Amino acid sequence: MSCPSQSSDELVFFVNGRKVTEKNVDPEVTLLVFLRKSLRLTGAKDACGTGGCGACTVMVSQHDPVCKKTRHFSVMACLVPLCSLHGAAITTVEGVGSIKTRLHPVQERIAKSHGTQCGFCTPGMVMSLYALLRNHPQPSEEQLMEALGGNLCRCTGYRPILESGRTFCPEPSGCQQSGTGKCCLDQKESNSPGGKSDICTELFVKDEFQPLDPTQELIFPPELLRMAENPEKQTLTFYGERITWTSPGTLQDLLALKAKYPEALLISGNTCLGPAMKSQGHFYPILLSPARIPDLRMVTKTSDGLTIGSGCSLTQVKDTLAEIISELPEEKTQTYRALLKHLQSLAGQQIRNMATLGGHVISRHCYSDLNPILSVGSAVLNLLSEEGLRQIPLDGQFLAGLVSADLKPGEILGSVYIPHSQKWEFVSAFRQAQCHQNALPEVNAAMRVRFKEGTDTIQELSIAYGGVGSSATTAHSTCQRLLGRRWNALTLDEACRLLLDEVSLPGSALGGKVDFRRTLIVSFFFKFYLEVLQELTVGVTAPEPADSQRYPEIADQFRSALGEFQVTLPQGIQTYQKVDSHQPLQDPVGRPIMHLSGLKHATGEAIFCDDIPRVDNELFMALVTSTRAHARIVSIDSSEALDLPGVVDVITAEDIPGTNGDEDNKLLAVDKVLCVGQVICAVVAETDVQAKRATDKIKVTYEDLKPVIFTIEDAIKHNSFLCPEKTLEQGNVEEAFENVDQIVEGEIHVGGQEHFYMETQRVLVIPKTEDKELDMYVSTQDPAHVQKTVSSTLNIPISRITCHVKRVGGGFGGKVARPAVFGAIAAVGAVKTGHPIRLVLDREDDMLITGGRHPLFGKYKVGFMNSGRIKALDIRCYLNGGCTLDDSELVTEFLVLKLENAYKIRNLRLRGRACMTNLPSNTAFRGFGFPQGALVTESCITAVAAKCGLPPEKIREKNMYKTVDKTIYKQAFSPEPLIRCWKECLDKSSFHIRRTQVEEFNKKNYWKKRGIAVVPMKFSVGFAATSYHQAAALVHIYTDGSVLVAHGGNELGQGIHTKMLQVASRELRIPMSHLHVCETSTATVPNTVATAASIGADVNGRAVQDACQILLRRLEPIIKKNPEGSWRDWIEAAFEQRISLSATGYFRGYKAFMDWEKGEGDPFPYYVYGAACSEVEIDCLTGAHRKIRTDIVMDACCSLNPAIDVGQIEGAFIQGMGLYTTEELHYSPEGVLHSRSPNEYKIPTAADIPEQFHVSLLPSSQTPLTIYSSKGLGESGMFLASSVFFAIADAVAAARRQRDLAEDFTARSPATPERVRMACADQFTDMCEGPDAPKVRVPALLITWPLEDLVVSYSKA
Ligand SMILES: Cc1cc2nc3c(=O)[nH]c(=O)nc-3n(C[C@H](O)[C@H](O)[C@H](O)COP(=O)(O)OP(=O)(O)OC[C@H]3O[C@@H](n4cnc5c(N)ncnc54)[C@H](O)[C@@H]3O)c2cc1C
Ligand code: FES
Ligand code: FES
Repeated sequence: MSCPSQSSDELVFFVNGRKVTEKNVDPEVTLLVFLRKSLRLTGAKDACGTGGCGACTVMVSQHDPVCKKTRHFSVMACLVPLCSLHGAAITTVEGVGSIKTRLHPVQERIAKSHGTQCGFCTPGMVMSLYALLRNHPQPSEEQLMEALGGNLCRCTGYRPILESGRTFCPEPSGCQQSGTGKCCLDQKESNSPGGKSDICTELFVKDEFQPLDPTQELIFPPELLRMAENPEKQTLTFYGERITWTSPGTLQDLLALKAKYPEALLISGNTCLGPAMKSQGHFYPILLSPARIPDLRMVTKTSDGLTIGSGCSLTQVKDTLAEIISELPEEKTQTYRALLKHLQSLAGQQIRNMATLGGHVISRHCYSDLNPILSVGSAVLNLLSEEGLRQIPLDGQFLAGLVSADLKPGEILGSVYIPHSQKWEFVSAFRQAQCHQNALPEVNAAMRVRFKEGTDTIQELSIAYGGVGSSATTAHSTCQRLLGRRWNALTLDEACRLLLDEVSLPGSALGGKVDFRRTLIVSFFFKFYLEVLQELTVGVTAPEPADSQRYPEIADQFRSALGEFQVTLPQGIQTYQKVDSHQPLQDPVGRPIMHLSGLKHATGEAIFCDDIPRVDNELFMALVTSTRAHARIVSIDSSEALDLPGVVDVITAEDIPGTNGDEDNKLLAVDKVLCVGQVICAVVAETDVQAKRATDKIKVTYEDLKPVIFTIEDAIKHNSFLCPEKTLEQGNVEEAFENVDQIVEGEIHVGGQEHFYMETQRVLVIPKTEDKELDMYVSTQDPAHVQKTVSSTLNIPISRITCHVKRVGGGFGGKVARPAVFGAIAAVGAVKTGHPIRLVLDREDDMLITGGRHPLFGKYKVGFMNSGRIKALDIRCYLNGGCTLDDSELVTEFLVLKLENAYKIRNLRLRGRACMTNLPSNTAFRGFGFPQGALVTESCITAVAAKCGLPPEKIREKNMYKTVDKTIYKQAFSPEPLIRCWKECLDKSSFHIRRTQVEEFNKKNYWKKRGIAVVPMKFSVGFAATSYHQAAALVHIYTDGSVLVAHGGNELGQGIHTKMLQVASRELRIPMSHLHVCETSTATVPNTVATAASIGADVNGRAVQDACQILLRRLEPIIKKNPEGSWRDWIEAAFEQRISLSATGYFRGYKAFMDWEKGEGDPFPYYVYGAACSEVEIDCLTGAHRKIRTDIVMDACCSLNPAIDVGQIEGAFIQGMGLYTTEELHYSPEGVLHSRSPNEYKIPTAADIPEQFHVSLLPSSQTPLTIYSSKGLGESGMFLASSVFFAIADAVAAARRQRDLAEDFTARSPATPERVRMACADQFTDMCEGPDAPKVRVPALLITWPLEDLVVSYSKA
C-alpha cells in the first residue's frame, strides 16, 4: 500500500491559534520534530524521545461532538505522530506566554519561585501545569502532584516547582487558631523579608504574582469546532517514504481496511508502538488510525457491568471508573477500585492522556498494570470485524498470546466489558516499582476471591501476576486447588507454596532480581489474605456472616501489612539570614534574586545548543559504537551505509589530521575496542534520521580479546588498575588495633550513577571560509578543553577555534571531559566535508557512551572501645574506572582526601585505587568520589554502633572533630561550623523526640518500620591545585551605561551568571538591570578552567570583582567631580575624557597543593559543613519506602544568593537520594548497558522527595577568603542524602532485630526496594531464596509466628 508517488490528504490542525495545513506529511514525523524543525518552536525539548521525561510536553485540545466538550490534555510530543492530529489544536509553551508580550501566571510563578535552574525541563513543567489549570483553575494538591508526575527535573529537586504550582491551589483554611483566622503552622509571617527577625523563610513574594484569569486563554479554534461538529467521513491517507498512515472516518471503513490489510497494525496512543519503533527498530509499513471514530470511545453502563471503548484514553478510563465507583455500592465496584488504584500510578499523566485502553490490552506488556486486574475481574473483549462481533475472555490464554485465544486477522478490539463485582467477592491489586510514580512495576498482581455466600469458603479464586514472565501470568492451577478451602492460615500457607511452584521464575529470568520477584509473589498474596480478612471482620463490604465466630482477627501489630504509601504534596521551610539592614536596597548581594534566565526558561525562549536554527548547508552526524567489550577491529565496511540516500560521508580515525586523542584514550577507535559503546566512526548525512539509520549499516568485524573484565572484583583478580594506589596514613594503625575492645570488618558496595543531565551531549560546528577558523556551539562545562582538543585533533592553532556556551542543560560533571571528544569528532567531520555539522546524542547513545559516577567497593576494619570511641580505622576503596583513565586518578585522590569526613580518628589509614574494566570510562560527577567514599566511613560508624548497642548518632558525636585541628593530610581547620550545623540539625529536627517516636512506632508495627538518621558532613571545596583556581573576566561599559560582563564560568543551571551580575552590581553600584551576560566564549575570556568543584562562582566572582573595581577606580575622579550625576552622565564623561571603559579582571587562584609522597598538603581552599536528618518508613513486605521528613542545616556562610544556594542544596540532595535509593545501572553479561532510558533508569520524581523538606542556611560566620564570605555549595548537598540511606538502614535494622537477625547485614547502595525487601528477611524470603540458600527459619508459615498469632484470636463475638 505504501506509495509515495500517490498524493497524501491534507492534514489540518492548529498550533498556538494558527492554522497549519500540511500537504505531504510523513507518518514517521512526530509532533516534537515538526514543532522544533518545521515551525521552529523549540520550547518543547527532546530529552529522551520515549515518553519518559516530560521535557517535550505540549497541550492538545480536541472537541468531542458527542458530549459537546473540548478536552484539553497534556501529551508527550515525542510520541505523538503528526498524522494523528487532524482537527486538533496544539498549545506549546510559546503559545502560553512570552517575555516579549505577556507572561502567563504559570510561567511567571515557576520562574519567580526559583523553579528553574538549567531550564531544560521547564517548558515541559509549564505545559503540564498549564494543562492542569485549563481543566482545573483551582487544582487540588492531589491533582497538582498527578499533573507533574510525568515530568523529570534533574536540577531543582522539585520542591520549588511544586511550590509554584501550589500557589494556584485553594488556600488551606488552616486551624483558625483562637479565631484569628491564622494557622498555628504558619510561621512565615514574622519571618518575611520585611519582618523584624534577621532570619527569613520566604524566597519569593507571593503577593506580587499576577492572578490567573482563565478568560485570557486561547479559545478552541472555531474552524476546528465546525470540523468536529460535522466530521468528514472519508478516509484520510498520508503516504510517507516507508510508511502509509490511514485514518478512516467510520467504523465500517476501518473494518474494511483491516479486512483488506490484515497485517496492518492499528495505532492508537503510540505509547507502545512508538518506543518499539524508535528503540527496537520495529517497522510497520501500514498503520490504521482509529482516532477519528467516536464509536470506539463510547462508554456504556449496564446493570451488570461497564463497557469501555477501546479508543478511550487511560485518563478517560480513570474518570469513568471514579464516576461509577461514586455511583454504585462498594461490593459492586471491587474490580473498578483495583483498576483505579493502578491507574493512579501507571506512567505519568501525559502517557495516561495518550495511551488507550485498546492499545494497553492488545500490547500485552508483561508489566501491564491493568491486564492482570481485567483478567481476574473476568473482563471480556468485544472484537469487531466485517463479520460482526465476537467475544473472547481476557484470560490467561489471551495474555499468553495463544493463537486460539487471540484476535483473528481482520479483527480489532472494539471495547472491553468489565462486570461488576458481587457480594462476597473481593478484588485487590498490588504493584512494586523502583519508585512511587512514573515507574514500570517490577512485579504487579491482581487477586480476586469469591466466597460461598455467608461463609469463608472459597468458591472462586483468580490470581494474575505481571513482571514475572514474558507476559502477564495467571495462577490457574493454584486457584483451582484452593477452591472449597477456608480463608485461614492453612490456606495461606498452601497458597504461597502452590503459587511459588506454579509461577516459576527461572534464575535467568529477564530483568533479574529473581528472589525479590518470587518474594513479592507471596508477599502480595499475604497482603491480599489480610485485606480480605480485614474486610470479612470489620469491612462494610460483606454482610455479617451467618456464623460470625468464623473469622480470625488480625493482631494489631500485623495490621501494618495493610495499606500502601500515598503520594502527598511536600511541604518545606527554607531558612536563611537576611542581609544587613544597612545594605543599600539596590545592592543585590545576599538577596534571593531570580535566575537571570528564569523567565526565558519558562517561556521556552531560552536557547540551548540544539535550539539554534539550522545553518546553511548543515549536515548531521551520528556515531557508530562498539558492540563488543574487548575486541580487535578486523574491518570496518561502510559501503552499504554510503549507498543510502542522504549519506554524505563516514568519518574514521584515518580522517583525523592531527592527534587522535591519547594513546590509551582514542577519540575514534583504532585496531581495538575496550568497551561496548566506544566510538568507532561517525556517519554524516543530510538529516539526523538518515545519519542514524546509516549507522546500523556500518559493518564492523571484531575478533574478541581476553580478558573481559566488568566488575571491581574481577579487576582486582586480574590486577587490572588504571593508576597506582593513593594512601594517606596517620598514627599507628596496627598497634592501635591491638589495644581496642572490639574490631569489626565489613564491606560495602556503592553503585554507579548516570548524570542524566536533561540536555544530552550536543555540539554544532561551523567551519568558516577563512583561515581554517571554526565556530563551535557546545554544551560543556569546559569550553577551553573542547577548544584545545579540537586544536590538536585538527592540527590548527587554538586561536582559530571559538567555543560558545550560552547555557548548558545540566552538567553535574558529565560535561567536563566528554564534550571535547564529541566536539573534536564533529570538527573532523566539518573540516572533511566543509559543512557545518550538528551532533546531538539521543538519550540511549548518551547513556551508553558517556559513563558516569564510579561504582565503589570498600572494605573497612575498625577498632573501637565499648564506649564507641574509634581508635583505629583502615579503609581500602576500589573504584570502577572503566576502560580509560579519564578523571579516575583525580577522583581517587579526592576520594582518599575526603574519606575521613567529619571524624577525628587518630590511627587512620585510607587507601583508594581505580580499576580498569571493559566498561565505558567513568568520569567526574558532582561530589567527585565523596558521596561514594563517605558512605563507607558512615557505614563503619553504624557498624560500630550496632556492636556497642548505641545509636549511631552517639558514635558520630563521640568521634567528630571538636576543636581546631588538622586533617589526615595536615591541613588545619576549625570544626566550629560543623558542630553548629550538627547541633542545629538535631534541634531543628527534634531528633531525640522523634527517635523515641520511631521506636514506639516500631514496637507497634511488625510489617512497617521507621528509621531515622542524622549525618554530619565536612566537604572540601575546590581543586587541589592553585592553577585550577585562576579565573578571568572581561567587563565592558557601553556609552549608554549598559554593561556587558563576560567571565570564565559556564551557566549550567547553577545560576553563576546571576551571581556574577550580583557581584558586578555591588561593585559598580548600579542596578542589575544595567548589566548583561551574553555567553561564555573562548574569544572573550581565554584559557578558562572547567566550571566544577563548587568553586565556579567563587573564583569567577573574584575576577568580575577585580574588573569592576578597576573600572570604578578609573571612574572615581569623574564621580567625585559630579557626585550628583547619574551613572550615564559619568560614563558619557569618561568616554569624552578617553577613559577606557573596558577592563579585564583576574584572580590568581587560591593556594592549594598536595604532596602525595609525604601525604601532606593544603589541597582545599575551604570546607563546607552541614548536617542532615532524615526519617523514613519502609514496607517490609515490598521494600517500598516513604520519606517522612528531612532537615538540612548547611553552612553557606554569607550566601551570595540564598534562593540559588538553597536550590543547589535541595537539587544535590535529591540527586544524592537517587544515587542512594533508586538509580541502578543494569548491564548484560556481555557488558551492554541495558538501562538506557528514563523508563529503565529511575531518577527521583516529584513524588519521591521528602514529605517535609526543610533547609536552613546556618547564620553566617565570616570566611574572609572567599567573595563576600560566601561558600560554593554546588556539590555538598549530594552526600547529605546518605541520611535517607542510613534512615532506611535503621528501619531495616529494626525489622531484623525484631526477627532475631544480625543487625549489621552487608549494606549496598542504592537501597532499592529489592535490597530492602530481601534484608527484611522473613518466612516469605526464606521460601523464595534459591534452592541452595540456607533456610534459617522454619519455612512453614503455619507453625511460625505471625500467622499463628494472627489466627489464634478469633472474633470475640
Ligand atoms: C513512559 C511510559 C511509561 C509507561 N508506564 C506504564 C506503567 O507504569 N504500567 C503499565 O501498565 N504500562 C505502562 N506503559 C505502557 C502503556 O500503558 C502502553 O504503552 C499503552 O497502554 C498502550 O496504549 P496505546 O494506545 O498507546 O497503544 P499503541 O502503542 O497505539 O498500540 C499498542 C498495540 O495495540 C494495538 N492496538 C491499539 N488499539 C487497538 C485496537 N483497538 N484493536 C486492536 N489492536 C489495537 C496496536 O496495533 C499495537 O500493537 C508505559 C508506557 C510509556 C511510554
Ligand atoms: S522527550 Fe518526550 S518524554 Fe522525554
Ligand atoms: S531545571 Fe529541571 S532539569 Fe534543569
